[in-house]
Amino acid sequence: MCASRESSPTAGPVRPDPLARPAAAVTVPGGLPLLGHLPAMLSRPLAFLDTLPAHGDPVRIRVGPRELYVVSGPESTHRVLTDRATFDRTGPLYGKIRAFLGNGLASCPHADHRRLRRIVQPAFRRALLPHYAAAMTAEIEQLAAHWRPGQTVDVTRQAFRLTTAVAVRTLFSSALDAPAAERLRDALDVLLRGLYLRVVLPGADLLPTRSRRTYRQALHAWHTGVAEIIADYRARGIDRGDVLSLLIAARDEDGQPLDERELADQVATLVLAGAETTSSALAWALRLVAEHPEVERKLHAELDALGAGTAAAGWDDLPQLPYAARVIDETLRLRPPAWAISRSTTRPTELGGVRLPAGALVVCCLYLLQRRPELFPDPTRFDPDRFAADAVPREAYLPFGAGATKCLGDRFGAVEATLALASIARRWRLRPATAAPVRPAPRLVLSPGPQPMLLTERVGAPAR
Ligand code: HEM
Repeated sequence: MCASRESSPTAGPVRPDPLARPAAAVTVPGGLPLLGHLPAMLSRPLAFLDTLPAHGDPVRIRVGPRELYVVSGPESTHRVLTDRATFDRTGPLYGKIRAFLGNGLASCPHADHRRLRRIVQPAFRRALLPHYAAAMTAEIEQLAAHWRPGQTVDVTRQAFRLTTAVAVRTLFSSALDAPAAERLRDALDVLLRGLYLRVVLPGADLLPTRSRRTYRQALHAWHTGVAEIIADYRARGIDRGDVLSLLIAARDEDGQPLDERELADQVATLVLAGAETTSSALAWALRLVAEHPEVERKLHAELDALGAGTAAAGWDDLPQLPYAARVIDETLRLRPPAWAISRSTTRPTELGGVRLPAGALVVCCLYLLQRRPELFPDPTRFDPDRFAADAVPREAYLPFGAGATKCLGDRFGAVEATLALASIARRWRLRPATAAPVRPAPRLVLSPGPQPMLLTERVGAPAR
């Protein structure tokens, strides 16, 4: 069979008794004094997560001083993501995220959400996708132009370079020179690494360490860089046909534009929300394909049928790439970049038969949801064809979230990952360069961590 299996959850999920009165949440055993489950979350996060559904839905874990209620069932996940009066984007986690993103669309409380969503959404309407896809194809071509047969590349790093380049290009079009784009990308890299640490370790900023200094410098570089770009756009007053031009021109229901601060927050949000999610999906997909020869064979057969042409796939090729799209769909199921979505309760409530106090931190774990054995047969198997039969339960496949805050860039991200996977696999066969297993790094996004892979040019690959 084509697919290897990962470790399965240790026992089946616990289902609530609908007639029972709400009970206190079960605390997962094994927490240490003071640290709680933090060591397990940092050292073997996925193996630890796999043990949780056996204790209930939701279950309580402790991460340092914080208590978290982890949700992994379809009904409870749906409720948390759609009952916005009870589950809001407030609390200490979002406080940390806002230090970087400000009041961006992806991190603002629900009270501000409707207005911002109405303003930002038109920049992601379907009709603009071919335009953005052209930028993706151009960046994919540039990325792979430097690759050579026999070379080892860190695909996680390369994928991140690609998606930040696409984000910067579609947001700011040609307004940035290469060094300025590079500076923004470097700052972003530091911020993304530092943000997760600050979210799980509340004291991370108290000590005057080198990493605190680097983080603050990156934050400063990011804010000033983005402010300069916006000022430049305003000064020239031209529509460059990119996302920032659309945001500057947009008006809310009262006819008001976004102010300087709001604009900068949306820019930071779009780069953060779009870049590492999509790059992780791509990096995981490349790894999973390399580990599953039958999937690779089917993918190559589809790509070879595209015939000769330019190296990188483009918008017009997408109808001929259903299998590549399914590889991305299945990667997003097994390795959802947005592996955990958090909310805070605005009032005492009950969820899945469990009492939650006001102010409780609730984390919807899409990673666990999308590998529930009762919903996804043989859940740890990497099998893109499960999407061909339309047998995937839509209520439990939520890599882009659900409800009013559902991902705005879902098609953007899926198209980008599909085009990049197709373009790379069309020309290159990738193999892990070392026998070391992947060490997933759950930052804000579930990243595969560094992944050195060896490039071999495929016979009959399109000309460079
Ligand atoms: C494979 C790639 C991606 C994945 C897996 C992903 C996943 C998600 C998820 C799960 C949410 C919901 C978060 C919540 O409810 O709190 C979300 C929201 C969002 N995403 Fe994505 N995303 C991806 C790519 C992108 C891209 C490419 C963009 C933009 C260019 C983007 C922009 C956003 C924005 C703006 C939000 C906030 C929406 C709102 O609150 O109204 N995402 N994303």
